[in-house]
Amino acid sequence: MPLYEIRHPLIRHKLGVMRRADLSTKSFRELAQEVGALLTYEASKDLPLEPHEVEGWCGTVRTEKLAGKKVTVVPILRAGIGMLDGVLSLIPGARVSVVGIARNEETLEAHTYLERLVGELDQRLALIVDPMLATGGSMNATIDLLKRAGCKEIRALVLVAAPVGIERVLAAHPDVSIYTASVDDGLNEHGYIMPGLGDAGDRIFGTK
Ligand code: URA
Repeated sequence: MPLYEIRHPLIRHKLGVMRRADLSTKSFRELAQEVGALLTYEASKDLPLEPHEVEGWCGTVRTEKLAGKKVTVVPILRAGIGMLDGVLSLIPGARVSVVGIARNEETLEAHTYLERLVGELDQRLALIVDPMLATGGSMNATIDLLKRAGCKEIRALVLVAAPVGIERVLAAHPDVSIYTASVDDGLNEHGYIMPGLGDAGDRIFGTK
C-alpha cells in the first residue's frame, strides 16, 4: 500500500515553521496538532458515506453522512500525544488506543510497555499517530500488536518520515498506508531524522 507525502501548501508552510530551532514550545505544540489535523483530512478522504435525510429550513433535504465507520486513534507514547487532539478535532467520536513502545538498549529491539486498546478493533480503522517515522521500529511494533488484536485496516500519520523507516514499514506491512508531511533525507548516526525536527517529544512537552 502506498506512501502519501501530502504536499498541501498549508502543510508545507506549517512544517517549515516547525523546523525553526527557535520556535516556542507553545507554537511547536499547536502546529503539531494542526498538521496532525490536516493529515487526518487527507487520510480520511475515502471514508464511506451513506445517504441521509434531514429536516432543513425548507423541508426534507437529502444529504450524506459517514457510514458508521468506527475509528480508533493510536498515539505512540509519548510524542504521538502531540498529534492526538488534531486528529480528534476532525473525528471527535474516535476512540483512543494508547501504545507505549521503548527500545531495549541491549537488544535494540522495540518492546511494548503499555497497551490500552479499545474494543472491536476488527471493525475499526486505526490511525496511528507519531510525529517521527525514523527507523520504523516503534511503528512496526505498534502495527504488529494492532494486527494481533484483530485490526484489519491501519493508516500511519507522521509529520516527518525517513526513507529507511518508510521502507521497513512497507516491507513488513505492505497493507498499511503512510501519510506524511515530508519525506526527509535520512537518519544521522544518533537515529535523528535529517533535517527533521529534532526530538519531537522534547519539543512538544517542553523537556530539555
Ligand atoms: N524521534 C524524534 O523525536 N526525532 C527524530 O529525528 C527521530 C526520532
